[in-house]
Amino acid sequence: MENITKQLISTAKAMVAGFKGLVAIDESVATLNKRFELAGIPQTEAYRRAYREVLITTPGIGDYINGAILFDETVHQQTLSGVPFLEALKKAGVIPGIKLDEGTEDLAGFPKEKVTKGLDNLQERLTTYAALGLKFAKWRGVILIDGELPSQACIVSNTHALARYAAACQRAGIVPIVEPEVIMDGNHTIERCAQVTEKVLRSLFEELYLLKVELGGLILKPNMILPGKDAPEKADAALVAKLTVNCLRNAVPATVAGIAFLSGGQDPETASQNLNAINAAYKEVLPWPVTYSFSRALHQPALEIWKGKTENVKAAQDSFIKLAKANHEARKGEFKL
Ligand code: 13P
Repeated sequence: MENITKQLISTAKAMVAGFKGLVAIDESVATLNKRFELAGIPQTEAYRRAYREVLITTPGIGDYINGAILFDETVHQQTLSGVPFLEALKKAGVIPGIKLDEGTEDLAGFPKEKVTKGLDNLQERLTTYAALGLKFAKWRGVILIDGELPSQACIVSNTHALARYAAACQRAGIVPIVEPEVIMDGNHTIERCAQVTEKVLRSLFEELYLLKVELGGLILKPNMILPGKDAPEKADAALVAKLTVNCLRNAVPATVAGIAFLSGGQDPETASQNLNAINAAYKEVLPWPVTYSFSRALHQPALEIWKGKTENVKAAQDSFIKLAKANHEARKGEFKL
Protein backbone atom coordinates (compact mmCIF):
# COMPACT_ATOMS: atom_id res chain seq x y z
CA MET A 1 0.00 0.00 0.00
CA GLU A 2 1.26 3.47 -0.86
CA ASN A 3 2.43 5.66 1.99
CA ILE A 4 -0.10 8.37 1.22
CA THR A 5 -2.94 5.81 1.51
CA LYS A 6 -1.59 4.55 4.81
CA GLN A 7 -1.44 8.11 6.08
CA LEU A 8 -5.01 8.84 4.97
CA ILE A 9 -6.29 5.71 6.68
CA SER A 10 -4.41 6.52 9.86
CA THR A 11 -5.73 10.13 9.97
CA ALA A 12 -9.29 9.01 9.25
CA LYS A 13 -9.10 6.44 12.06
CA ALA A 14 -7.75 9.06 14.45
CA MET A 15 -10.69 11.35 13.64
CA VAL A 16 -13.20 8.85 15.00
CA ALA A 17 -11.09 7.07 17.64
CA GLY A 18 -11.64 6.78 21.39
CA PHE A 19 -15.43 7.19 21.31
CA LYS A 20 -14.88 10.86 20.48
CA GLY A 21 -16.16 12.93 17.57
CA LEU A 22 -15.67 16.15 15.65
CA VAL A 23 -16.89 19.69 16.13
CA ALA A 24 -17.89 21.86 13.18
CA ILE A 25 -16.80 25.44 13.79
CA ASP A 26 -16.69 26.16 10.08
CA GLU A 27 -19.68 28.44 9.71
CA SER A 28 -19.10 30.84 6.82
CA VAL A 29 -18.91 34.56 7.60
CA ALA A 30 -22.52 34.97 6.40
CA THR A 31 -23.85 32.07 8.50
CA LEU A 32 -22.01 33.05 11.67
CA ASN A 33 -23.05 36.68 11.24
CA LYS A 34 -26.67 35.54 10.97
CA ARG A 35 -26.35 33.62 14.25
CA PHE A 36 -24.62 36.61 15.87
CA GLU A 37 -27.38 38.93 14.73
CA LEU A 38 -30.05 36.72 16.32
CA ALA A 39 -28.05 36.65 19.58
CA GLY A 40 -27.38 40.42 19.55
CA ILE A 41 -23.63 40.06 18.93
CA PRO A 42 -21.83 42.57 16.63
CA GLN A 43 -21.09 41.00 13.24
CA THR A 44 -17.40 41.84 12.92
CA GLU A 45 -14.19 39.92 12.31
CA ALA A 46 -13.08 40.69 15.88
CA TYR A 47 -16.18 39.10 17.38
CA ARG A 48 -15.97 36.08 15.07
CA ARG A 49 -12.35 35.60 16.17
CA ALA A 50 -13.34 35.96 19.82
CA TYR A 51 -16.10 33.36 19.45
CA ARG A 52 -13.78 30.85 17.80
CA GLU A 53 -11.32 31.46 20.66
CA VAL A 54 -14.02 30.64 23.23
CA LEU A 55 -14.52 27.22 21.62
CA ILE A 56 -10.93 26.38 20.66
CA THR A 57 -9.53 27.22 24.11
CA THR A 58 -12.21 25.40 26.09
CA PRO A 59 -10.35 23.45 28.79
CA GLY A 60 -10.55 19.69 28.19
CA ILE A 61 -11.77 19.98 24.57
CA GLY A 62 -9.42 17.16 23.54
CA ASP A 63 -11.11 14.77 25.97
CA TYR A 64 -14.18 14.59 23.75
CA ILE A 65 -13.21 16.10 20.41
CA ASN A 66 -10.74 14.54 17.95
CA GLY A 67 -10.99 17.16 15.22
CA ALA A 68 -12.32 20.66 14.55
CA ILE A 69 -13.54 21.75 11.13
CA LEU A 70 -12.51 25.37 10.56
CA PHE A 71 -13.46 28.12 8.14
CA ASP A 72 -10.66 29.84 6.19
CA GLU A 73 -10.88 33.04 8.27
CA THR A 74 -10.24 31.05 11.47
CA VAL A 75 -7.22 29.23 10.06
CA HIS A 76 -5.34 32.52 9.91
CA GLN A 77 -6.42 33.87 13.30
CA GLN A 78 -4.88 33.54 16.74
CA THR A 79 -5.80 33.82 20.39
CA LEU A 80 -5.76 37.22 22.05
CA SER A 81 -2.42 36.26 23.62
CA GLY A 82 -0.94 35.52 20.18
CA VAL A 83 -1.13 31.72 19.83
CA PRO A 84 -2.21 30.73 16.30
CA PHE A 85 -5.48 28.78 16.49
CA LEU A 86 -3.90 25.89 14.57
CA GLU A 87 -1.25 25.59 17.27
CA ALA A 88 -3.74 25.90 20.12
CA LEU A 89 -5.77 23.05 18.64
CA LYS A 90 -2.77 20.80 18.12
CA LYS A 91 -1.66 21.44 21.69
CA ALA A 92 -5.12 20.43 22.92
CA GLY A 93 -4.90 17.17 20.93
CA VAL A 94 -7.44 18.27 18.33
CA ILE A 95 -6.74 17.69 14.62
CA PRO A 96 -7.50 20.78 12.51
CA GLY A 97 -9.55 20.50 9.32
CA ILE A 98 -10.93 22.94 6.76
CA LYS A 99 -14.26 23.55 5.07
CA LEU A 100 -13.49 23.52 1.35
CA ASP A 101 -16.85 24.01 -0.27
CA GLU A 102 -17.84 27.54 -1.17
CA GLY A 103 -21.55 27.33 -0.45
CA THR A 104 -24.31 26.58 -2.93
CA GLU A 105 -25.79 28.09 -6.08
CA ASP A 106 -28.99 27.39 -8.01
CA LEU A 107 -28.89 24.21 -10.08
CA ALA A 108 -29.62 25.57 -13.56
CA GLY A 109 -32.88 24.25 -14.94
CA PHE A 110 -34.03 22.80 -11.60
CA PRO A 111 -35.92 25.44 -9.64
CA LYS A 112 -35.49 25.24 -5.84
CA GLU A 113 -32.51 22.85 -6.10
CA LYS A 114 -28.89 23.69 -5.34
CA VAL A 115 -25.44 22.49 -6.24
CA THR A 116 -22.28 23.16 -4.24
CA LYS A 117 -19.53 25.47 -5.52
CA GLY A 118 -15.79 25.24 -4.96
CA LEU A 119 -14.28 22.78 -7.46
CA ASP A 120 -12.40 25.56 -9.28
CA ASN A 121 -8.86 26.00 -7.90
CA LEU A 122 -9.50 23.16 -5.48
CA GLN A 123 -6.11 21.52 -6.05
CA GLU A 124 -4.26 24.79 -5.38
CA ARG A 125 -6.27 25.42 -2.23
CA LEU A 126 -5.57 21.86 -1.05
CA THR A 127 -1.83 22.32 -1.51
CA THR A 128 -1.94 25.54 0.52
CA TYR A 129 -3.96 24.01 3.36
CA ALA A 130 -1.85 20.84 3.45
CA ALA A 131 1.26 23.03 3.85
CA LEU A 132 -0.43 24.83 6.74
CA GLY A 133 -0.88 21.48 8.52
CA LEU A 134 -4.58 20.86 7.95
CA LYS A 135 -5.20 17.13 7.89
CA PHE A 136 -8.80 16.81 6.73
CA ALA A 137 -11.47 18.74 4.88
CA LYS A 138 -15.23 19.02 4.53
CA TRP A 139 -17.62 19.54 1.62
CA ARG A 140 -21.39 19.79 2.00
CA GLY A 141 -23.98 19.05 -0.68
CA VAL A 142 -27.58 20.04 0.01
CA ILE A 143 -30.57 17.91 -0.99
CA LEU A 144 -34.08 19.25 -0.48
CA ILE A 145 -37.17 17.05 -0.12
CA ASP A 146 -40.26 18.76 -1.54
CA GLY A 147 -43.03 16.85 -3.32
CA GLU A 148 -41.27 14.99 -6.14
CA LEU A 149 -37.91 16.57 -5.27
CA PRO A 150 -35.05 15.82 -5.13
CA SER A 151 -34.54 15.36 -8.86
CA GLN A 152 -32.07 12.76 -10.06
CA ALA A 153 -30.16 15.69 -11.60
CA CYS A 154 -29.74 17.29 -8.19
CA ILE A 155 -28.64 14.04 -6.58
CA VAL A 156 -26.06 13.22 -9.25
CA SER A 157 -24.75 16.80 -9.55
CA ASN A 158 -24.09 16.93 -5.83
CA THR A 159 -22.71 13.42 -5.34
CA HIS A 160 -20.45 13.85 -8.36
CA ALA A 161 -19.06 17.08 -6.93
CA LEU A 162 -18.53 15.38 -3.57
CA ALA A 163 -16.58 12.58 -5.26
CA ARG A 164 -14.47 15.04 -7.31
CA TYR A 165 -13.65 16.89 -4.11
CA ALA A 166 -12.87 13.67 -2.21
CA ALA A 167 -10.50 12.41 -4.91
CA ALA A 168 -8.69 15.77 -4.98
CA CYS A 169 -8.34 15.76 -1.18
CA GLN A 170 -6.81 12.32 -1.11
CA ARG A 171 -4.27 13.24 -3.80
CA ALA A 172 -3.14 16.05 -1.50
CA GLY A 173 -2.94 13.71 1.53
CA ILE A 174 -6.03 15.25 3.13
CA VAL A 175 -8.88 13.11 4.47
CA PRO A 176 -12.22 14.15 2.94
CA ILE A 177 -15.35 14.39 5.04
CA VAL A 178 -18.16 13.95 2.55
CA GLU A 179 -21.41 15.53 3.67
CA PRO A 180 -24.48 14.91 1.52
CA GLU A 181 -27.10 16.63 3.69
CA VAL A 182 -30.74 15.75 3.09
CA ILE A 183 -32.16 18.75 4.91
CA MET A 184 -34.91 18.66 7.50
CA ASP A 185 -36.98 21.51 6.01
CA GLY A 186 -40.47 20.45 4.97
CA ASN A 187 -43.34 18.29 6.19
CA HIS A 188 -42.26 14.96 4.69
CA THR A 189 -42.48 11.70 6.64
CA ILE A 190 -39.52 9.92 8.19
CA GLU A 191 -39.98 7.12 5.65
CA ARG A 192 -39.55 9.61 2.81
CA CYS A 193 -36.32 10.88 4.41
CA ALA A 194 -35.10 7.28 4.61
CA GLN A 195 -35.92 6.62 0.96
CA VAL A 196 -34.25 9.81 -0.30
CA THR A 197 -31.18 9.47 1.94
CA GLU A 198 -30.59 5.89 0.81
CA LYS A 199 -30.85 6.93 -2.83
CA VAL A 200 -28.40 9.79 -2.27
CA LEU A 201 -25.91 7.56 -0.44
CA ARG A 202 -26.07 4.89 -3.15
CA SER A 203 -25.37 7.56 -5.77
CA LEU A 204 -22.54 8.97 -3.65
CA PHE A 205 -20.73 5.64 -3.28
CA GLU A 206 -21.16 4.94 -7.00
CA GLU A 207 -19.46 8.27 -7.78
CA LEU A 208 -16.73 7.68 -5.18
CA TYR A 209 -16.08 4.28 -6.76
CA LEU A 210 -15.83 5.79 -10.26
CA LEU A 211 -13.27 8.30 -9.04
CA LYS A 212 -11.25 5.63 -7.19
CA VAL A 213 -11.62 7.20 -3.78
CA GLU A 214 -10.09 5.14 -0.94
CA LEU A 215 -12.98 4.54 1.45
CA GLY A 216 -10.68 3.69 4.36
CA GLY A 217 -9.39 7.26 4.15
CA LEU A 218 -12.80 8.95 4.13
CA ILE A 219 -15.38 10.00 6.71
CA LEU A 220 -19.07 10.15 5.82
CA LYS A 221 -21.07 12.96 7.41
CA PRO A 222 -24.73 12.17 6.81
CA ASN A 223 -28.02 13.36 8.23
CA MET A 224 -29.89 11.11 10.62
CA ILE A 225 -33.18 9.75 9.29
CA LEU A 226 -35.79 12.17 10.62
CA PRO A 227 -39.25 13.43 9.69
CA GLY A 228 -39.38 16.92 8.14
CA LYS A 229 -39.36 19.61 10.80
CA ASP A 230 -42.97 20.59 9.96
CA ALA A 231 -44.21 16.99 9.70
CA PRO A 232 -47.32 16.31 11.76
CA GLU A 233 -45.92 13.00 12.96
CA LYS A 234 -42.79 13.12 15.12
CA ALA A 235 -40.41 10.20 15.63
CA ASP A 236 -38.90 8.89 18.86
CA ALA A 237 -35.22 7.98 19.22
CA ALA A 238 -35.91 4.25 18.81
CA LEU A 239 -37.50 4.79 15.39
CA VAL A 240 -34.85 7.31 14.29
CA ALA A 241 -32.12 4.83 15.28
CA LYS A 242 -33.78 1.90 13.54
CA LEU A 243 -34.32 3.70 10.21
CA THR A 244 -30.93 5.43 10.33
CA VAL A 245 -29.02 2.20 10.94
CA ASN A 246 -31.06 0.41 8.30
CA CYS A 247 -30.33 3.11 5.72
CA LEU A 248 -26.61 3.28 6.48
CA ARG A 249 -26.21 -0.50 6.49
CA ASN A 250 -27.95 -0.69 3.10
CA ALA A 251 -25.89 1.98 1.39
CA VAL A 252 -22.51 2.52 3.08
CA PRO A 253 -19.62 0.10 2.46
CA ALA A 254 -18.06 -1.36 5.60
CA THR A 255 -14.63 -0.07 4.57
CA VAL A 256 -15.60 3.57 5.23
CA ALA A 257 -13.43 4.77 8.14
CA GLY A 258 -16.21 6.35 10.11
CA ILE A 259 -19.61 7.99 10.14
CA ALA A 260 -19.97 11.35 11.90
CA PHE A 261 -23.43 12.86 11.82
CA LEU A 262 -24.41 16.48 11.28
CA SER A 263 -27.08 17.70 13.70
CA GLY A 264 -29.14 19.49 11.05
CA GLY A 265 -31.21 21.70 13.32
CA GLN A 266 -32.10 19.13 15.99
CA ASP A 267 -31.83 20.56 19.49
CA PRO A 268 -28.79 19.30 21.41
CA GLU A 269 -30.73 16.92 23.64
CA THR A 270 -32.55 15.25 20.75
CA ALA A 271 -29.36 14.90 18.70
CA SER A 272 -27.59 13.21 21.64
CA GLN A 273 -30.56 10.94 22.36
CA ASN A 274 -30.71 9.83 18.74
CA LEU A 275 -26.97 9.20 18.52
CA ASN A 276 -27.20 7.30 21.78
CA ALA A 277 -30.06 5.12 20.56
CA ILE A 278 -28.06 4.21 17.44
CA ASN A 279 -25.00 3.17 19.45
CA ALA A 280 -26.85 1.56 22.35
CA ALA A 281 -29.16 -0.68 20.32
CA TYR A 282 -27.06 -1.46 17.25
CA LYS A 283 -23.39 -1.49 18.22
CA GLU A 284 -23.03 -5.16 17.26
CA VAL A 285 -24.17 -4.57 13.70
CA LEU A 286 -22.37 -1.30 12.92
CA PRO A 287 -19.19 -1.95 10.90
CA TRP A 288 -17.99 1.67 11.35
CA PRO A 289 -17.52 3.96 14.35
CA VAL A 290 -20.69 6.09 14.41
CA THR A 291 -20.12 9.47 16.03
CA TYR A 292 -20.82 13.22 15.93
CA SER A 293 -19.66 16.14 13.83
CA PHE A 294 -22.16 18.68 15.08
CA SER A 295 -22.12 22.43 14.89
CA ARG A 296 -25.37 23.73 16.40
CA ALA A 297 -26.03 20.75 18.68
CA LEU A 298 -22.57 21.20 20.23
CA HIS A 299 -22.18 24.95 20.52
CA GLN A 300 -25.26 26.99 19.64
CA PRO A 301 -26.13 27.22 23.38
CA ALA A 302 -22.55 28.41 24.08
CA LEU A 303 -22.98 31.20 21.54
CA GLU A 304 -26.22 32.31 23.16
CA ILE A 305 -24.63 32.29 26.63
CA TRP A 306 -21.49 34.12 25.48
CA LYS A 307 -23.33 37.00 23.76
CA GLY A 308 -19.98 38.60 22.88
CA LYS A 309 -19.10 39.37 26.51
CA THR A 310 -15.84 38.45 28.24
CA GLU A 311 -17.59 37.82 31.56
CA ASN A 312 -19.64 35.02 29.91
CA VAL A 313 -16.69 33.10 28.43
CA LYS A 314 -16.44 30.58 31.27
CA ALA A 315 -20.17 29.79 31.25
CA ALA A 316 -20.13 29.43 27.45
CA GLN A 317 -17.17 27.04 27.62
CA ASP A 318 -18.92 25.05 30.37
CA SER A 319 -21.94 24.64 28.10
CA PHE A 320 -19.79 23.53 25.13
CA ILE A 321 -17.80 20.96 27.13
CA LYS A 322 -20.97 19.61 28.74
CA LEU A 323 -22.51 18.95 25.32
CA ALA A 324 -19.24 17.49 24.03
CA LYS A 325 -19.19 15.10 27.00
CA ALA A 326 -22.87 14.21 26.49
CA ASN A 327 -22.16 13.23 22.90
CA HIS A 328 -19.10 11.24 23.95
CA GLU A 329 -21.47 9.29 26.21
CA ALA A 330 -23.95 8.95 23.33
CA ARG A 331 -21.17 7.63 21.11
CA LYS A 332 -20.68 4.88 23.69
CA GLY A 333 -24.44 4.30 23.99
CA GLU A 334 -24.29 5.46 27.61
CA PHE A 335 -25.96 8.88 27.45
CA LYS A 336 -28.55 9.65 30.10
CA LEU A 337 -30.66 12.81 30.21
P1 13P B 1 -25.09 21.24 12.15
O1 13P B 1 -24.63 20.20 13.11
O2 13P B 1 -25.48 22.53 12.80
O3 13P B 1 -26.13 20.73 11.19
O4 13P B 1 -23.86 21.64 11.25
C1 13P B 1 -23.06 20.64 10.76
C2 13P B 1 -22.32 21.14 9.59
O5 13P B 1 -21.13 21.03 9.52
C3 13P B 1 -23.07 21.75 8.48
O6 13P B 1 -22.32 21.71 7.33
